[in-house]
Amino acid sequence: MSPQIAVSSRTRSQALQQRAERCFPGGVNSPVRAFRAVGGEPPFIERAEGAYLIDADGNRYIDCFGSWGPMILGHAFPPVVEAIQRAARNSASFGASTAAEADLAERVMACYPAIEKMRFVSSGTEATMSAIRLARAATGRKIIVKFEGCYHGHADGLLVKAGSGVATFGIPGSAGVPEEIAHLTLALPYNDLSAAEAAFAAHPGAIAAVILEPVVGNAGCIPPLPAGVSAPGYLAGLRSLTAREGALLIVDEVMTGFRVALGGATELYRLDPDLITLGKIVGGGLPVGVFGGKRRFMDLLAPLGPVYQAGTLSGNPLAMAAGLATVGYLQEHATEVYPRLEATSKALAEGAAREAASVGIPLTTNRVGSMWTWFFTPGPVTNYEQAATSDTAAFGRFHRAMLDRGIWLPPSQFEAAFISTTHGDAEVQATIAAAREALKAAQAG
Ligand SMILES: Cc1ncc(COP(=O)(O)O)c(C=O)c1O
Repeated sequence: MSPQIAVSSRTRSQALQQRAERCFPGGVNSPVRAFRAVGGEPPFIERAEGAYLIDADGNRYIDCFGSWGPMILGHAFPPVVEAIQRAARNSASFGASTAAEADLAERVMACYPAIEKMRFVSSGTEATMSAIRLARAATGRKIIVKFEGCYHGHADGLLVKAGSGVATFGIPGSAGVPEEIAHLTLALPYNDLSAAEAAFAAHPGAIAAVILEPVVGNAGCIPPLPAGVSAPGYLAGLRSLTAREGALLIVDEVMTGFRVALGGATELYRLDPDLITLGKIVGGGLPVGVFGGKRRFMDLLAPLGPVYQAGTLSGNPLAMAAGLATVGYLQEHATEVYPRLEATSKALAEGAAREAASVGIPLTTNRVGSMWTWFFTPGPVTNYEQAATSDTAAFGRFHRAMLDRGIWLPPSQFEAAFISTTHGDAEVQATIAAAREALKAAQAG
């Protein structure tokens, strides 16, 4: 397939949006899909193949978002499609154990040595929620530390907006979250080890766990700070701090897992967390989450221990089949896949950044492998506060102009873009050419 950089009418999408609005709040089943952060009307997608999305009006888009991350091998990757079809012929669900669960688990554990035991769930939200419960049970403590701009799903205790100041107790980030629950979550600035140290000093013996995105994706892409002359790297620093204080370190790799490396950020940054959560890629596009880690914590789960967690569709056969086809492929082709993703993403992200520089738009490009963000700010961006200095109106204009030129970007300044192994030079060049024009549109605003 060659790139097509022209989008005509979206009348069918518009009609579908009106219909959807009668069924779903805002017309969507997940809020950011409504495109409110960027303006414009969200196209309805009919199908996708490889690097391309095709909407209800037949417009084609180069997909630089990959369904919020999972589609690392491109859309409708034949081994994944065939695996799902094969599994479906044997029935979609049994409510009993299958060999496929251990097949996928063994592959996951081979890639993530810190995972000595694990559980499959059906979403990233379930995975982080369960990991938190486990951490509280293991430590007998209540407080959870998270970081500003990190998203870990929509469970009450994790849906907490950061307060200002280092150790401000969280206030609910959503109506319907009781203050009593939000108050058990401390939201601290990311990449600031001294803030984490101060939180432990202020709450001795009370913090059950620190949970973080090891590379932030949900504030846009923000890598962890590397080791400096006198300081350890941010992740290494959090590891020693939590170990010293008897709190669990939960590394939420729902987005980074199998994305920034086969073994995720824990491999890339040589980290040994207590618990890891996975999602997105591990399900190959079907709903799968994982929480796993040290055996001594995982064995606290029912039926072995007192921590209850369950799921009707956990380890679902179709989801396991899609996950196995995806993870199996990544594992067997890791030496080709990850260098290719790195090279393609570098060419694309840096190519568009050069276009911005040539027209005088201050852009900060943060990238780790095939996950990146163009922040519309001179930068640097090392935490949420800095990300928030971005010109979101300019990003909105850029997003709409890119969409009109057949490029599908994340619908918010504060999301990471992703590409797949099916993106090649043609898609890179077409995206950069579109960016050349779209950046002018963003500037003109
Ligand atoms: C880092 C991270 N954790 C957890 C989640 C929640 O996953 P899900 O949407 O599958 O519930 C997300 C979703 O984007 C995520 O990016």
